[in-house]
Amino acid sequence: MNTNFAENLYNLRKAARMTQEQLAEKLGISFQAVSKWENKQAYPDIELLPVIADIFKVDIDALLGYQSKKLNTTHYNQKYFGEEYYWGNQVWDKCYEVLRQMPPIRPLRLLDIGCGEGQVAVFFAKNGYLVSAYDISEAGIEKGKHLAEISNVSVDFFKADMLDYRLENEFDIIYSSGALQYLPEVRRQDVIDNMKEHTARGGIHVLNVFVEKPFLALPPDWEDTEYAWKTGELFGYYHDWKFEFMEEKIFDCNSGGVLHKHCMDVMIARKEPLRKEEHDKED
Ligand SMILES: C[S@@+](CC[C@H](N)C(=O)[O-])C[C@H]1O[C@@H](n2cnc3c(N)ncnc32)[C@H](O)[C@@H]1O
Repeated sequence: MNTNFAENLYNLRKAARMTQEQLAEKLGISFQAVSKWENKQAYPDIELLPVIADIFKVDIDALLGYQSKKLNTTHYNQKYFGEEYYWGNQVWDKCYEVLRQMPPIRPLRLLDIGCGEGQVAVFFAKNGYLVSAYDISEAGIEKGKHLAEISNVSVDFFKADMLDYRLENEFDIIYSSGALQYLPEVRRQDVIDNMKEHTARGGIHVLNVFVEKPFLALPPDWEDTEYAWKTGELFGYYHDWKFEFMEEKIFDCNSGGVLHKHCMDVMIARKEPLRKEEHDKED
């Protein structure tokens, strides 16, 4: 069996601040057995896998570091296991633009799609927004919940796959950074239509997408499930909204430890606000 079980177990146990003895006690086995697993000298009985997964609130695939070819998963799940925050605690500069464009002077509902470990969602919650955030990575969602808890804010974090999750509630702000490349071209219209429909009048979408360029190589850590967008494609979906900001830029990136360049289309687009008479009628 070729898995990352030993490393994953160690990271999960450390993140839960649990000793080998404490884990062994929960499982009714000796701590030497846990030590052997973490040192790649042995594997647990198959019957213990669901019990270990339940203790750390992950699924068995995540515990084994197994990525199904069928299910849409991501390598980020493993990167999020450790105690460190893979994406650090910096937020994208456009987060501050959200504060300017839609200041939280009234309750504003914000959704972060592909929220990773939740640092941006927590940033918005700290600034007074009513935040929901989802990601396909269970480990990321758990880190987000932990960050919200220690930051003393409430965020509705949940696990979902953007390929099949469709919004039912309305939001004032939909934000997504570095994640929409997981949408294959054939699914984009449907997903974006659903996002637009579930946005309040006057609300904004703050999005970026990786764009393909013939003179730029694919990033070294690009996954099979990632699909670059075409220049301007994102803007086309918003032809009927007002652009508050749009830009295409090329920048250096060091993700995966190898310096490379990305091209990105960035936009802030606003849905047509309510006209005065409509506003008065709503009041
Ligand atoms: C490059 S990271 C960006 C994370 C975060 N937005 C940030 O800026 O720090 C891309 C994120 O997309 C998530 N992701 C990948 N495929 C997804 C899918 N189908 N549905 C939801 N999230 C997905 C990954 O788990 C990962 O957290």
